[in-house]
Amino acid sequence: MANTSGFFTPSVPSLRRKIQPPIGISRSGFCFSEGSCRRVVCSSGIEGAEKHVSPSESRVSKLVSKGCKLVGCGSAVPTLSVSNDDLARIVDTSDEWISVRTGIRNRRVISGKDSLRNLAVEAARKALEMADVDPNDLDLILMCTSTPEDLFGGAPQVQRDLGCTKTPLAYDITAACSGFVLGLVSAACHIRGGGFRNVLVIGADGLSRFVDWSDRGTCILFGDAAGALLVQACDAEEDGLLSFDLHSDGEGGRHLSASIKDNEADDLLSSNGSLLDFPPKRSSYSCIQMNGKEVFRFAVRCVPQSIESALEKAGLTASSIDWLLLHQANQRIIDAVATRLEVPQEQVISNLANYGNTSAASIPLALDEAVRSGKVKPGHTIATAGFGAGLTWGSAIIRWG
Ligand code: ACO
Repeated sequence: MANTSGFFTPSVPSLRRKIQPPIGISRSGFCFSEGSCRRVVCSSGIEGAEKHVSPSESRVSKLVSKGCKLVGCGSAVPTLSVSNDDLARIVDTSDEWISVRTGIRNRRVISGKDSLRNLAVEAARKALEMADVDPNDLDLILMCTSTPEDLFGGAPQVQRDLGCTKTPLAYDITAACSGFVLGLVSAACHIRGGGFRNVLVIGADGLSRFVDWSDRGTCILFGDAAGALLVQACDAEEDGLLSFDLHSDGEGGRHLSASIKDNEADDLLSSNGSLLDFPPKRSSYSCIQMNGKEVFRFAVRCVPQSIESALEKAGLTASSIDWLLLHQANQRIIDAVATRLEVPQEQVISNLANYGNTSAASIPLALDEAVRSGKVKPGHTIATAGFGAGLTWGSAIIRWG
């Protein structure tokens, strides 16, 4: 995706070349890839783990469901609120600069005894309550996060804290700000192809822990939060995931990263003298590095293309959706995408001003607020899209309730 001058300029043809073969899932529940179409049935029973149900006792049926509907949502944010004026006390910025360039006014930041896991559990409980589903009726928990509190992932701890003693599986998905859309599509695949009935998709991120709070170019953007969505097997007529469109591009990844780095202090430790570069240095992750302009260009170019592609697969046009709900990164990105798609402002969901960019949490957090406030009603169609580090981006056309 880099041209000879080194600028990141993804074009439609090059994007199309890169993502061959396209993947998708039809409304009938069949997985397809490049013209092939087959029904997938697989067992999900687990042997060996102490508490777990044997395959014969597993509640996860081996049927292939035709549809999946969105039946519950929830969200949670940390208590500490940090305003633009608060930030202006630690870096050279102003409320005016931040709100004009981004639309952000406040963000919530994990502090004190807050933890990302607790936020995820709170959001999950609310989603389960709305859906009237018992935690033990969950077949799968997908935790979409790039900032787990354990390198090996956080989903099994959320599973434990929710008291899901009969839930066979919980695992993490790492795809930055696209994580939630990928989690939603993964949930649908597990339901349609794997026989799962209740899948909880959590988007939770604590990017404030990876922000350089002396870098005014990035520290103004991010906040912490968790959101959750319960996806449930249903008949084809009730299907709530009408289509999707997913992409990634490692070439553009250099524009937004938080890479691993060696601990230089380890240079002072003596090695055993016989092996170079051994033992390895301890590593940690660097703070978020971002070329804001390139990420901005990527978003306003690729997100509308992706939504248009998903709409086409669903047999819909932008004028027929009820809501546009984008990853909440920058109000100017949201406005540019809405303008390109000709979606009027009153049909655009945005809560960015209060929370900033909460990465994988931003879509379920905004959806939860919109559902609970009565904006989004059962039967409403929503075009949603995530985009960010990787680079990754993708969209889904969903129906609420
Ligand atoms: N306050 C005051 N001035 C600032 C600030 C600030 N917080 N930040 C930058 N500036 C200054 C710069 O130093 C520069 O000054 P100069 O002209 O004297 O050199 C000037 O403002 C313009 O800076 P730019 O970086 O060009 O500002 P831009 O208009 O591009 O806005 C922003 C920056 C808001 C970061 C924008 O590029 C953006 O939102 N990009 C997209 C980021 C994004 O959406 N990320 C999503 C993915 S996140 C994920 O996946 C984890």
